Amino acid sequence: MSIIMKSVNDFLTRLSSKLKGGGDKAIEKQKKKGKNTARERVEDLLLDEGSFLEIDLFVEHSVKDFGMDRKELAGDGVITGYGEVHSRPVAVFAQDFTVAGGSLGRAHSKKIVKVMDGAADAGIPLIGINDSGGARIQEGVESLCGYGEIFYRNTKLSGVVPQLSVILGPCAGGAVYSPALTDFVFVVDKISNMFITGPQVIKTVLGEDITQEELGGAMTHVSITGNAHFYAKSETEAFNTLKKLLSFLPANSGETPPVRKSIPPDQPLGDDVIPDNRRQAYCVKEIIRGIVDASDFLEVHKNFAANMVVGFARLAGKPIGIVANQPRVLAGVLDVNASDKAARFIRFCDCFNIPLLTLVDTPGYLPGADQEHAGVIRHGAKILYAYSEATVPKMTVIMRKAYGGAYIAMCSRHLGATFVASWPCGEIAVMGPEGAANIIFRREIAAAENPEEFRQEMIREYEEKFANPYVAANKGYVDTIIRASMTRETLIKVLSRTGQSRKGHPHGNIPL
Ligand code: HXC
Repeated sequence: MSIIMKSVNDFLTRLSSKLKGGGDKAIEKQKKKGKNTARERVEDLLLDEGSFLEIDLFVEHSVKDFGMDRKELAGDGVITGYGEVHSRPVAVFAQDFTVAGGSLGRAHSKKIVKVMDGAADAGIPLIGINDSGGARIQEGVESLCGYGEIFYRNTKLSGVVPQLSVILGPCAGGAVYSPALTDFVFVVDKISNMFITGPQVIKTVLGEDITQEELGGAMTHVSITGNAHFYAKSETEAFNTLKKLLSFLPANSGETPPVRKSIPPDQPLGDDVIPDNRRQAYCVKEIIRGIVDASDFLEVHKNFAANMVVGFARLAGKPIGIVANQPRVLAGVLDVNASDKAARFIRFCDCFNIPLLTLVDTPGYLPGADQEHAGVIRHGAKILYAYSEATVPKMTVIMRKAYGGAYIAMCSRHLGATFVASWPCGEIAVMGPEGAANIIFRREIAAAENPEEFRQEMIREYEEKFANPYVAANKGYVDTIIRASMTRETLIKVLSRTGQSRKGHPHGNIPL
């Protein structure tokens, strides 16, 4: 055999051992949990076929003591490289749980850092697939500094290239803090767990018994904590949603989002889309579907703070971000979680040149000691900050109620909206007619011969005077009043003239 062919054979032997990850037994264990291997996730579920260019497969872990010399850690437990999603380039890393539980040691972190720097240099999205027990215990401070360097880059890349995290296993410590710094987190039913320390550590430190699912299962994180944005029933579904999300996003903050053909909605809005009874709820997602291209709306954070709806859609082919009050849940009030949810989404859209459409129907900020003590002042301020800071085109449609602070907060002209329209049934005032009449005419109501009749009369008077869009339109705070059926064509006109001129300063995704 020639020297060249010997070297090729030697290479192939080494390659096949590396490609096996943690070996057959560990892979079988992974499969039994219903999980794909890291390589299957990257090559079969995420990237376009044959597009993966792997790097650093031959990197070896550097720490040989504390029992580590007994182990062969293929690729040091992480697969890294570049590939394409729907023919658009991305950088990717996938932690391999079959190798030391995907734990992060020095070499592992250096591999991730290399593709993060590669994503920054090329201006392409970074996708992290996390399946890891966190900092590798045996490597001590070396693994901690590895995480520190990743967090540093997550932050520097924030608002520069989109960063997406898919949680596909029991992720602990740094394996959840890095995703928390990224833009969107995906979880899968019965596969994803997120916690700072796992059940074994909790048992040791606190003596408490708790399962991984109870501690931080997928549904917990999309509905209660809000740590995750997208929930899927399977790994395949999670990756399909991720690909759809990418289709709305530019590769980096210097580019505009990809434009497609304009497709009208399946069911355009009629003028009577809002119920006659002003106290009656309706679903704002039906309104959204009546406005956007092909009635196609990718909702973000669907299960968290459902009184606020946010997500991506297209208008005349151009991606937009939608922020909408949901009258069907808590009458669409603004509270702590809804404020956080909206503010973060607004910041993301502003980073990546995605125009914002705000649909308003809210009675205001939620009153009460619970919310006050949960910091509704601090959290509510984030919406004010995020809208004021945003320099993308900001279009607002007042559908019904826009009362008090919420009128201002939901992208009013005063926070720099590009265009504000109201439907004829819009109500713009300091507070709703009932509350207002009770306060203003308290003494008169008490002294009236028939207090209830007098109260109703005062409510009617207030409604006529204030609970309409004309006072605001008279003063130019609302640019125009349109019928609901005109919403889509009006917004398309606005979008076609606003362009993409940027006046703002760069910022990341996390509202402080
Ligand atoms: C080294 C680890 C490891 C870790 C798991 N393994 N986590 N090795 N360092 N952090 C290894 C196990 O020893 C085992 O090796 C293999 O991975 C599979 O782990 P199992 O425990 O058998 O799997 P499972 O029962 O599914 O439990 C998964 C787990 C649990 C919940 C993640 O392993 C666990 O609790 N690990 C510790 C989690 C943790 O507290 N990490 C530190 C976080 S602190 P063998 O050889 O037996 O197959 C941190 C610092 C950064 O990350 C903080 C930033 C703010």
